[in-house]
Amino acid sequence: MPPTSSTSPATSQRTRVLSGIQPTSLSQHIGNYLGATKQWAELQDDHEVFFFLADLHALTVEAPEPAVLTQRSRQAVAQLLAAGVDPDRSAIFLQSHVPGHTQLSWVLECLTGYGEAGRMTQFKDKSARGERVSVGLLTYPILQAADILIYQAHQVPVGEDQRQHIELTRNLAQRFNARYGETFVVPDAYIPKASAKILDLQDPTAKMSKSLPDAGTLNLLDDPAVLTKKIKRAVTDTGSEIRFDPQTKPGVSNLLAILAAVSSTTIDTLVGQFDGQGYGALKVAVAEAVVAFAEPFATRVRETMADPAEIDRILARGAEQARPVAEATVADVYERVGFLPPLRT
Ligand code: TRP
Repeated sequence: MPPTSSTSPATSQRTRVLSGIQPTSLSQHIGNYLGATKQWAELQDDHEVFFFLADLHALTVEAPEPAVLTQRSRQAVAQLLAAGVDPDRSAIFLQSHVPGHTQLSWVLECLTGYGEAGRMTQFKDKSARGERVSVGLLTYPILQAADILIYQAHQVPVGEDQRQHIELTRNLAQRFNARYGETFVVPDAYIPKASAKILDLQDPTAKMSKSLPDAGTLNLLDDPAVLTKKIKRAVTDTGSEIRFDPQTKPGVSNLLAILAAVSSTTIDTLVGQFDGQGYGALKVAVAEAVVAFAEPFATRVRETMADPAEIDRILARGAEQARPVAEATVADVYERVGFLPPLRT
């Protein structure tokens, strides 16, 4: 059921969920999947959902080659579909296809203190390290607030690292509402407790991330042989016992968490199964399970990518569902701040 369809009487009562990911690489890693898109696919059953690719945000750090960005955007859509996000039940669109995001962002920027924006960790850390930071990186969280508030979303499924941005979003919504009257839903972060936190294979104290060296990252579009090699070379811990103990055994615990998540079992069950076995046996099992998941995923992505025009049609449909909602919010906001409404002739 498309989110804006009026054929379902339940539509308007359902909780509205919105989330976005940046198309910053060609392949999702298993942490992106388990921490984000898998939840998205599950949420579409009982919620009215809007999922978008934050291509505007993808320019804030290091603007990629134009053709690369285009390819990443389409491939990100293909991966959402492969993860089970269904264009018949979710609005899937590109941020740059809905002009309201930047229109609302401007108004919110004018409500945000310079110091307040400067305290957002991503900007603060990068500027503290002396890296080149753009104004876009400074205003990034405000654009994110606009992404959320423009759809009057109730819940925003995100990882723990995004909590600060959702706090800012809530503050801006409350500030606007207090100054101009009730306009925005004040959204909640939706951070599933059960979702496994997947760590880097080479440094299991850090979250798995595309910005760390590739050897520690399990990309879902990696070759099976590459995935297997990365898992075999994963850093393990001293001792030989297979236990779940993230403090003293971060490497082994991470492998257990990955195996539990991709094979839909519990960590406790696995610890029982591997009683008396060594790290080697665990790695073999993890590699088999990851490959068994990643191979059909990659096949689905390749099949979708073979027909880019179909991806573009899905995005067009998604944007058609998103735009009226976004336009209504922008019109309301512009009127409330006192912009003279344009006369429609
Ligand atoms: N900043 C988010 C990330 O890097 C992506 C994002 C942009 C987002 N806009 C959003 C997430 C709105 C949720 C809602 O993961």
